[in-house]
Amino acid sequence: MNTEIKTYQINGEMVWRGTLAKINGVRQEKPVHFYIHPLNVNDAPAMGNLSENIYQNLRTGEECFIHKHTKEYYYDVFQNKKMKYIGVFVGSQLIGMSYLKICENAADLQEELPNAKYDFFNANRNGGNSRIASFGADSVLPAYRGNALNTVMIEYRIKQAGRLGCTDCTSIVDRSNLWNMTPYFACRFNLFQTTIDPSDGGKISLLHKPIEKETVLSCFKPKVALPYDRFELIDNMIKRGFIGVEFDRSKKEVLFAHSSYYKPALAKSDRCMAIFTRKTGYAM
Ligand SMILES: CC(C)(COP(=O)(O)OP(=O)(O)OC[C@H]1O[C@@H](n2cnc3c(N)ncnc32)[C@H](O)[C@@H]1OP(=O)(O)O)[C@@H](O)C(=O)NCCC(=O)NCCS
Repeated sequence: MNTEIKTYQINGEMVWRGTLAKINGVRQEKPVHFYIHPLNVNDAPAMGNLSENIYQNLRTGEECFIHKHTKEYYYDVFQNKKMKYIGVFVGSQLIGMSYLKICENAADLQEELPNAKYDFFNANRNGGNSRIASFGADSVLPAYRGNALNTVMIEYRIKQAGRLGCTDCTSIVDRSNLWNMTPYFACRFNLFQTTIDPSDGGKISLLHKPIEKETVLSCFKPKVALPYDRFELIDNMIKRGFIGVEFDRSKKEVLFAHSSYYKPALAKSDRCMAIFTRKTGYAM
């Protein structure tokens, strides 16, 4: 985060305050504060306007995931208790927003993290009690970009997810969307799979971060940096058990490290077979 965050508890809700470094690219001499807190149904009209503004200003690489929604959509969103929207305000103006959706089973998560091969709900994880917070709709008005506000919104949602009893956070990013890679990698998410979004055919990266424990990386294999747009090379890297762990915005490169974390867990019979083969050299 660029800015020091002051945290408050107001009516049981987390409220964060920080300072903007620039507006419209112009450095601010006097402190201009922003506030982050959960949104509610009264914010629906402002959310509709923000959505319209983001949609009008989409650039190459940002086409996926951001769908234009009206205030009526946002009124309905607040009926869904699993969906938690947060907003960034300067004074009374909503300048950024994003959501956290609680997924309690594979069907919930499939909508958020399409085609994920890793089974986040398998019985060996968190005693079979995994609860996933999926992040989405990350948006900041163009005039306020460059203040790492999405990084702060992600940090906020990670804290919120922990308070809501979630074990993991996930998200998806368009593979061409350079702008949303820095925030997720800065918050230590792992790029563990690439796929096609069945809803619009977009090329996407699937991202994950366990809330409590860090992913264990294999220290004996060297790390490899690849340009973010060498999609085939990256797919091969992931097939070989590597995951993306860092992003260098100036070089536009993702750093890959080896990890066995996302390998599907072997069934007991398969584990026995693997041990037998390893010990004897014979396949059963
Ligand atoms: C993704 C997004 C929320 C990130 O905004 P942010 O938190 O302000 O981004 P950062 O502060 O990390 O920006 C870092 C730099 O990238 C620039 N930048 C950020 N988003 C940019 C964009 N969409 N186009 C061009 N430059 C952008 C910033 O100006 C800044 O440059 P600087 O360091 O030279 O000042 C924002 O780009 C956005 O709302 N995009 C449209 C919607 C979208 O694509 N959402 C993500 C869906 S997966």
